[in-house]
Amino acid sequence: MPSAALVATMSTSALRLMDACMSSPRPIRIFDTTLRDGEQSPGASMNQTEKLEIAQALVQLGVDIIEAGFPIASPGDFASVREIAAAVKGSTVCGLARCSDADIDRAWEALQPAERPRIHVFLATSSIHREFKLRMTEEEVLARAVAGVTRARRHCDDIEFSPEDAARTEIDFLCRVVEAVIAAGATTVNIPDTVGYSTPTQMHRVIKSLVDRVPNIDKAVISTHCHDDLGLAVANSLAAVEAGAGQIECTINGIGERAGNCALEEVVMALRTRGDYYHCSTRIVTPKLVPTSRLVANITGIRVPRNKAIVGKNAFAHESGIHQDGMLKEPRTYEIMRPEDVGLERTDLVLGKHSGRAALADRAKALGYQLSPEQLQTVFERFKVLADRKKEIYDGDIAALCEQQFSDLPEQFVYEGYSLSSESGAAPTVTLRVLQNGEPKSVTITAGDGPVDGIFLAIEKLTGITVICRDFRVQAVTVGKDAQGEVTVELEHAGQIQRGRGVSTDSLEAAARAFLAATNRLIIGSSPRLHPQRL
Ligand code: KIV
Ligand code: ZN
Repeated sequence: MPSAALVATMSTSALRLMDACMSSPRPIRIFDTTLRDGEQSPGASMNQTEKLEIAQALVQLGVDIIEAGFPIASPGDFASVREIAAAVKGSTVCGLARCSDADIDRAWEALQPAERPRIHVFLATSSIHREFKLRMTEEEVLARAVAGVTRARRHCDDIEFSPEDAARTEIDFLCRVVEAVIAAGATTVNIPDTVGYSTPTQMHRVIKSLVDRVPNIDKAVISTHCHDDLGLAVANSLAAVEAGAGQIECTINGIGERAGNCALEEVVMALRTRGDYYHCSTRIVTPKLVPTSRLVANITGIRVPRNKAIVGKNAFAHESGIHQDGMLKEPRTYEIMRPEDVGLERTDLVLGKHSGRAALADRAKALGYQLSPEQLQTVFERFKVLADRKKEIYDGDIAALCEQQFSDLPEQFVYEGYSLSSESGAAPTVTLRVLQNGEPKSVTITAGDGPVDGIFLAIEKLTGITVICRDFRVQAVTVGKDAQGEVTVELEHAGQIQRGRGVSTDSLEAAARAFLAATNRLIIGSSPRLHPQRL
């Protein structure tokens, strides 16, 4: 052990290094809020089946706490939190509530079946929120926060409290609130930078002040919840960890309200890759990062930019000759992480026409899809049809087939086929065939600005549902001239917006499938949702 005199002359970084060498890594809890804050991304609403699918993927990923939703927001939110609570084993399931008896009791009702339930109560504390949103004094806010935690604690032992807009809250008042809610029974205190206003140094100062000034802080885990309005969410979360936070709230692909939240994959890989500096560990199974990212992107329709750290298509691509030369000599010259550590396969070409069911199941599993025997059967049948149309089946194709399976919902209209004749400058003639509740139905029209528009108009005529097309995107799932085209659409009808996705080697068929999928969802309908920041 170094003497006290030596320690007094050592720099902070030398002390940190010494500390790192002597102790084991500090565990950091990963709290994922993709299903709650992530779902608040404009256009990202998910149905119950999709939420359950993501929750199961988060368990496999090793997430400690899954925030499953905001049960009082809508009957749909309540039902999915309850379903996830019943299904998830091995991770804590959390439900959000405002500091009101009705919210807290409803959250508890939804969490009842959970193996490890947590109630997360929140109340804004910053002066701007107190004055303009809540119209409450400091004392009233303090009393309501304590009452909320006390009520939640009557139901369960694991209680998180968030002083919303904490990063803009006066530090003396924040310390008082944190001390009071811990005394009332909060076991985690989460410090949100609700509007993404903080900087890393400021975040560090806030957490350090709580560590130094709140007398009972050792009775709770300090958490951080950073939004990305200034692109600093990951940096701010890491600064909070350095100052003593033991939990990070984040989302897959960084999706969330406005510019989003701290990206799980980035913060986790920063802690892992720079273990020499942070000396912290998480339970995240990092090879599952890319499959989970793909799953969330496909379900929410929010694409991952090519240059996104860790999970973007270009994250491990080396274009410059000098870099490629260095990579061939020694990958560590230009790579600080190995692609396989985040779940990126170096080889992509996998299966073909003669591949069997076992090879397909194997590949699907490696890509992060656990298929039941019935699901495997359906995916295998679709795989055979695809293999007849396309010589080489890539990972992207298999992922598309699996996701189609998971997003299958009861459909009133099932795509059967189309025929089309068109000429530039003239309206196309389209015949569209579907099964409506099992009965064949078709329509022929001559209308539209081009083939895609003609197909969309035929679907509107056939289903009787007129929509506004808010978004239409086409992209190739893999490479090559015979690559499958993926079409995603966002349709609006009677104030409701739904997304649909279709994949095929024929991009017009993909468009028809996407349009029909979104129309089927509009028919099933969904109740209006309530988001905490919009209350
Ligand atoms: O950003 C925020 O403040 C939140 C709270 C509800 C934790 O999402
Ligand atoms: Zn938030």
